[in-house]
Amino acid sequence: MEETATKPVTPFQRLGGAETFHAIADRFYALMDADPAYADLRAMHGEDLAPMKASLAGFLIGWSGGPRDWFGQGKCMMSLHRPLPIAANTAKQWADAMRRAIGDVAPSDTEMAQALAGVLEEIALSMVPLPEKA
Ligand code: HEM
Repeated sequence: MEETATKPVTPFQRLGGAETFHAIADRFYALMDADPAYADLRAMHGEDLAPMKASLAGFLIGWSGGPRDWFGQGKCMMSLHRPLPIAANTAKQWADAMRRAIGDVAPSDTEMAQALAGVLEEIALSMVPLPEKA
């Protein structure tokens, strides 16, 4: 049998590349800014969300298997959040806004889009310090 070289297909590729992740980050922060349901989460952020949009997109691009420029800056997403007082309700707001943002951008690979929303929710909830979770 003839061997065919198979290239691994990353979540980054399946979801449509950098454009998709910029759209998701833009939509995520727009929802956070506009919907009072995310007021607690919004209040934790500074006035100007533009740098956060770019940074979140950069993180998601590298983390999902795309170009790793964001990680090249020596940043660690978990370390950046450790000093923040993340409560269960703000983590849920984050996960909810992200699920909506992904749904609104609507990548054609719906299976991978749902997996993305699910794993990001798990990460967000894992950022709540243990006593808060009880
Ligand atoms: C669990 C709830 C979360 C809360 C309350 C939260 C809150 C915040 C806040 C307040 C900032 C801005 C910090 C600043 O002003 O410098 C920030 C930045 C950021 N967050 Fe979150 N975050 C959460 C979850 C997540 C998750 C799950 C991810 C990614 C999977 C993420 C990715 C980022 C990134 C990439 C930045 C920009 C960091 C930088 O470039 O300085 N966050 N977050």
